Amino acid sequence: MERLPKHIAIIMDGNGRWAKEQGQDRLFGHYHGVISVRKVVEAATEIGIQYLTLYAFSTENWDRPQEEVKGLMTLFVDTIAKEVPDLHKNNIKLHFIGNLNMLPNEAQDALANAMEITAQNTGLTLVIALSYSSRWELVEATKSIAQKVLDGSLDIAHITEAVISENLTTRAFPDPELMIRTSGECRISNFLLYQLAYAELYFTDTLWPAFGKEDLIKAVSEYQSRERRFGKTSEQIHTN
Ligand code: FPP
Repeated sequence: MERLPKHIAIIMDGNGRWAKEQGQDRLFGHYHGVISVRKVVEAATEIGIQYLTLYAFSTENWDRPQEEVKGLMTLFVDTIAKEVPDLHKNNIKLHFIGNLNMLPNEAQDALANAMEITAQNTGLTLVIALSYSSRWELVEATKSIAQKVLDGSLDIAHITEAVISENLTTRAFPDPELMIRTSGECRISNFLLYQLAYAELYFTDTLWPAFGKEDLIKAVSEYQSRERRFGKTSEQIHTN
């Protein structure tokens, strides 16, 4: 239980391939993906992770076949409505990041409701990235910083790394120390580009619907065995 990451971020990939292996359609894979979300949230709570960010839908995912997009939106709304009472009972705080204005109204209402109900909870913070892309987020942050400079509330000389962090959608959370991607793809795919600067990256061939508690624990153990140097030498790390 030592050296646990405070914040784990996950790119949940491979639902489509998993469904294909079962001779089923892609949505079947997404439905099973929700079961993995449940298992991973339970495991994260049990081991004492404070923040868990899940990449559920990217800005680029809007270009998928409309039937799949519609199916995913229905799945998000239904899952959130169904799971909120249990999440609340377990003291979990829900948060959503992304260009949420692009979501159907019904989905926006479900998210706002889930955040409001769980706002005072003090256990795991579960962040769901929906209609999210890191480049979109950086553009928005840049606009917001530029506006502050224009209206005189911020001096250019005072734009620091911290100011950039404060203008990102993740401003309330520490940066993830561990990023997991399933399904054998070794990319970051426009996910938390600024926030993952020093994260340990963990890639596994397991497809998301087959990922469970043991897989999360394995990733955390691997993280614990790595030496994080932040640009320093190994000797500096061990003498400090
Ligand atoms: C990527 O697999 C998965 C997605 C784009 C959707 C992820 C959504 C879920 C797991 C549901 C989560 C629900 C909530 C409420 C958080 P893919 O479709 O790209 O798989 P492939 O690469 O094998 O085609």
